[in-house]
Amino acid sequence: METQLIAGIILGLNLLLFVPFFFLFVPKKVFRYNRQNLFKILSKYKLYIVVLGSVFILQSIEVNLVDRPTTTWLMQYIGEDGFAPFFYSIENGWVASMADYWCKPLLYYFVFFYLVVYSFVLWFIPVIFLLNDKEWHTRFVLLFYPMMWAIQLPFLLFFPVTNVYKYFGLQSTLEMIIPGVEASFYTVTSINNCFPSLHIGFAVSAVIIAFLSDNKRLKGFTPVFSLSVILATIYLVIHWLLDVLGGALLALLVGWLLWKKLNPQSITLSRVKPSRGEVSRLKTAVALLEDKAKNEVKGKGIEVQLVGSVAKDTYLKDSIDIDLFLLFPPSTDWNELEAEGLSIGKRVLEKWELKYAEHPYIHGDFGGYEVDVVPCYKVGSAKNILSAVDRTPFHTQYINAALKRRQRNQVRLLKQFLKGIGIYGAGAEADGFSGYLCELLILRYGSFKKVLDHAPKWSKEGLTLTEGSPSKFDSSLVFIDPVDPNRNVAAAVTGRSLEIFEKASDAYLEDPSIRFFFPLEPKPLNVEEIRSRLGREERLIGFEVKVPVISSEILLPQIKKAERNARSLLEENGFNCKHALHTLAGSKTLFLFELESVVLSEPLLHRGPLAKDEENSKKFTERWTKNKRTIKGPYVEGKRWVVEIEREFSNAYDLLNKKLMKINLGKNIKPQIKEGYDLLRQEDLFKEPYRRFVGKLIEAKYPWEYK
Ligand code: UTP
Ligand code: MN
Repeated sequence: METQLIAGIILGLNLLLFVPFFFLFVPKKVFRYNRQNLFKILSKYKLYIVVLGSVFILQSIEVNLVDRPTTTWLMQYIGEDGFAPFFYSIENGWVASMADYWCKPLLYYFVFFYLVVYSFVLWFIPVIFLLNDKEWHTRFVLLFYPMMWAIQLPFLLFFPVTNVYKYFGLQSTLEMIIPGVEASFYTVTSINNCFPSLHIGFAVSAVIIAFLSDNKRLKGFTPVFSLSVILATIYLVIHWLLDVLGGALLALLVGWLLWKKLNPQSITLSRVKPSRGEVSRLKTAVALLEDKAKNEVKGKGIEVQLVGSVAKDTYLKDSIDIDLFLLFPPSTDWNELEAEGLSIGKRVLEKWELKYAEHPYIHGDFGGYEVDVVPCYKVGSAKNILSAVDRTPFHTQYINAALKRRQRNQVRLLKQFLKGIGIYGAGAEADGFSGYLCELLILRYGSFKKVLDHAPKWSKEGLTLTEGSPSKFDSSLVFIDPVDPNRNVAAAVTGRSLEIFEKASDAYLEDPSIRFFFPLEPKPLNVEEIRSRLGREERLIGFEVKVPVISSEILLPQIKKAERNARSLLEENGFNCKHALHTLAGSKTLFLFELESVVLSEPLLHRGPLAKDEENSKKFTERWTKNKRTIKGPYVEGKRWVVEIEREFSNAYDLLNKKLMKINLGKNIKPQIKEGYDLLRQEDLFKEPYRRFVGKLIEAKYPWEYK
């Protein structure tokens, strides 16, 4: 048969297979795509598609132009079959012996598989993932072939191995079933490009690709496919066993390399996990610090203990804080503990400042690291604590005993994820998950991924690792402290934070991305973009206040309260508020509101008593009929009296101007407001430094949604 005809038939069969495979394996969402979607996807991955395409061109240049001269030259030195004799010496003709078992039906099946199904799957898999458009996985799939090809190129050029049937002078099975096929087959490969087998490489890569995806059907299909390809190459006496092994290893190597380079979790780990050098530098500093502290407490009955994430090996390498605790005997007087503890802290640290939690402690530097030196009581059990920090040594002990080595990195992933989405830390800034809570969650579920899997299912019942009922706590999330059943480790997690975590978990599992761990800065919108989103109405209003320089733990809750109360003030006066935002930058804080409209033209609808309530109806009508503010009514609407009256404030600007000082804004902010504040109109907010916050306000996106 003619070469072109055969190539045409193979191509035709390929297209025929496309129809059932498309319906079986392509994710449902693809069926809703339109031309625009497709165009977007293609342009998003255009670079990858070009790289993939180039590989096919380069391969055919190699086979048709470069391969013959290089192998001819090489053969002068290594003989006409290249390294095939060596391969033969290892397996001793095992593959060749398959020729004794050749039978027509099996030959037909494997030849069909080898030529048609294989070539089809080869291009169909990238198509599936391209259409599915899940960022990291699509890149992974599109780079898989080019990478395998690049690694086997030196073998292709300088490691000729003649295939088995040629070596033994057997008839080609492909030719036996489809006479004339070899001519077209050898335009895409050559007879001595056996090692490593790219056929096997591709087959194994299909399995790897499927198992990293969430495509269940592909997971079922690819192992069968892969096994058939391996059997085909052997049964048809094409590849040596070493080729098969080499091909499989090649796929595994490439899979591993691409996983390391592209998977969001491995990228994140490479950024947050300390290197060996960093670990040993930290250990040296900690040892020096401990020595110094132990020297200071000599003979005083005080114990020095490293606690927190450095002791548990769950710290993030860019935000290391060494937590060093001084454990005093419980008989020590509180004042003495405080005085002595702080004084030791000041003496061991290079630079220090006083900080406050429930009690004061020392924060400072040592050897280039940030350190907290915290005095506490050494109690017998976490149930008998005298102050909140007394639990911490028990936490450290508990985690170190229970958390497995490989789970420490899972904790790091969870911490960075929470940081990225803005809810890491039990302080006022995040209202979120403490480091200890992250560790407990990993203990509870086993891995970062599994925590995310379960997040949307957390209910009011709460979580626990031990016996004990979490139901007695009234918070959005409950996780009973395994060292003290009377404490909820998740007490700081607000309803809003929990909601963010659930949304982020869903979104991450759907399409994992590095943007969850390291969000991008929002691009500032320009004035035209802001105007076009706001429409013609004037919608923005804000005010800026000076704030005192105090701990954000004290200030932030007040700022949040001020925002809440200012928002209520606006809404009570009929100004519907779509979004609100506060910022704390330096010595000023900015409050921004997006209203449905800054100006309200229609009158205020004031509702009165039920019409059947005669006594009150009389009072209501008497009061409003002659009132100066009445515009229309009173009249009965439904079952009630209503009256349309003039608004006290028809402009939100006037409202804030008159009433802002009268609402509860927090005890450190109120005096500042009295001293003066800047009321900002929409036009003011279009200018920097305000404009970038306006973008954030009206876009109202989650941190991971910025691209
Ligand atoms: P850290 O806030 O330093 O947490 O508190 P961490 O575990 O070291 O995590 P990093 O530093 O963010 O990586 C130190 C210890 O204090 C206790 C915990 O036992 C924690 O390990 N702690 C802290 C609490 O029990 N509750 C809190 O809200 C904060
Ligand atoms: Mn810490």
